[in-house]
Amino acid sequence: MMKDLLSPARTTMESFALCPLLIVVRDDAKESGANICVASYVGVLSETPPIIGVALRPQRHTHGLIERFRAFSINLPEPSMLKALDFCGSKKGIQVDKAGETGLVLTPAVGIDGFNLDQCPINLECQLIQTLTFPELGASHTYFVGRVVRAWRRPGYELDRNDVIVTTNYTYRLAAEKMGEAYKSWRKE
Ligand SMILES: Cc1cc2nc3c(=O)[nH]c(=O)nc-3n(C[C@H](O)[C@H](O)[C@H](O)COP(=O)(O)O)c2cc1C
Repeated sequence: MMKDLLSPARTTMESFALCPLLIVVRDDAKESGANICVASYVGVLSETPPIIGVALRPQRHTHGLIERFRAFSINLPEPSMLKALDFCGSKKGIQVDKAGETGLVLTPAVGIDGFNLDQCPINLECQLIQTLTFPELGASHTYFVGRVVRAWRRPGYELDRNDVIVTTNYTYRLAAEKMGEAYKSWRKE
């Protein structure tokens, strides 16, 4: 099959459907007490114990806050929160108090020095355990590796039964339709 040869950086960025997540870090300079940003470059590194990595550009206000407080929460947005999500992913926390502007409600975390987002059905409280940088490659992002020390779920919420937002390149979409069961789809009916 003929394929187009494209720039690896651009193709990597454009080739995945990713789930945008709300990252919350303590920020004493804010009236609300925390800053919120969006990251879709988020990956699971281990299931037991649960370890998650978040790739952030050094320019992000959130980047400095994670270095300082060494903790963050990862919050799953619902489709109804799209406007607030896009606001948190576009505005700079150095300039605005995004919790105040969006009406997103911060609740104190239990396992870390930080906050969770009340409206989000799932909150993962992460303690920073490693920071990966690749200066020799001039890498654009820092990988903050966090151990999930507390996880919360709204009662009755099941990810399988609720839609989630995905981003492909610069578009928001709904994951929408169920196509099959993982590990079983190959079986004969
Ligand atoms: C859908 C979406 C996904 C994003 N994913 C990332 C990401 O993975 N890493 C990153 O550094 N910035 C990402 N951003 C950009 C930041 O969220 C954005 O620059 C934000 O304003 C940073 O806020 P802060 O300066 O308050 O930390 C994303 C933005 C959007 C809208």
